[in-house]
Amino acid sequence: MDGLALQPGSIYLDCTLGGAGHSIEAAKRIAPDGILIGIDQDDMALEAADTRLGVEAPDVTALLLKGNFGNLDDLLLQAQVPYVDAILFDLGVSSPQLDIPERGFSYKYDAPLDMRMDPGTQSITAAQIIATYTETDLARILRDWGEEKWASRIAQFIVQARAKEPIETTFQLVDIIKAAIPASARRAGGHPAKQSFQALRIEVNQEMAVLERGLEAAIRWLAPGGRLVVMSYHSLEDRITKEAFQKMSRGCTCPPDLPVCVCGNKPILKVITRKPLLPSPEELERNPRSKSVKLRIAQKL
Ligand SMILES: C[S@@+](CC[C@H](N)C(=O)[O-])C[C@H]1O[C@@H](n2cnc3c(N)ncnc32)[C@H](O)[C@@H]1O
Ligand SMILES: [Zn+2]
Repeated sequence: MDGLALQPGSIYLDCTLGGAGHSIEAAKRIAPDGILIGIDQDDMALEAADTRLGVEAPDVTALLLKGNFGNLDDLLLQAQVPYVDAILFDLGVSSPQLDIPERGFSYKYDAPLDMRMDPGTQSITAAQIIATYTETDLARILRDWGEEKWASRIAQFIVQARAKEPIETTFQLVDIIKAAIPASARRAGGHPAKQSFQALRIEVNQEMAVLERGLEAAIRWLAPGGRLVVMSYHSLEDRITKEAFQKMSRGCTCPPDLPVCVCGNKPILKVITRKPLLPSPEELERNPRSKSVKLRIAQKL
């Protein structure tokens, strides 16, 4: 919240509204005449946020928009604001999404393999990916998006299993993953399906490509002096954020051996956090799901 540097009257954009936990706090800081724009692609999140904001921040103008922050330009044109003063991305899935079995995000509940954050408009589900991708492509997404050491073996087991019967539920997939990872390797670390489930979720929702587009647009919409805060929960998201910040804060992209700059690019961002901020031991104690968070802050020049 402090990283967002909100003032009374600020225009605040929450790109991942969720249950409005952050937005409620932001609303207090921009009251009385600030504007809160909240985006989420999940109808359930928008409804929950709407109710909460109505009760806990009734006197702030809140504009809640359904959509994907990968289409930020369209959404902000709808909002009819000229610029924004502060933007937050709190990436990934929300606790309610994880905890509703039917959404198919969790390896802890048996449910159809869905994992779409916006079940209304996106078409491809996790089950369709499992059913149609080649073994090579499955191995690639498990490795790239899940950093799964056993990616090739899991992909191979999936392809063998789907030849016998369709893989349609989370527990079917969990069993296949457990069979693919050798018992000795399974004893270490967390749940054996954690990384594969993360990988599928990222592929279903195209999270990396969407994040690159979203950050690029967000930086353009920021007013001079405006703040951008990004909270990410795995190393790939954090890398995309770090690289976007670096690129925009460097300006000139000429090869170092050129005597003068010919590209003319000027820095448009100042990085406030050289290293990402991590949760304190007290926060970890209170909220174990904060374990993997990395928070980066930048300021528009
Ligand atoms: C970690 S939760 C945010 C929680 C929120 N900060 C709070 O305090 O309640 C992430 C939310 O972002 C949404 N989301 C994730 N990717 C999105 C995207 N590309 N476009 C729009 N919403 C997205 C999810 O639906 C989810 O509700
Ligand atoms: Zn240059």
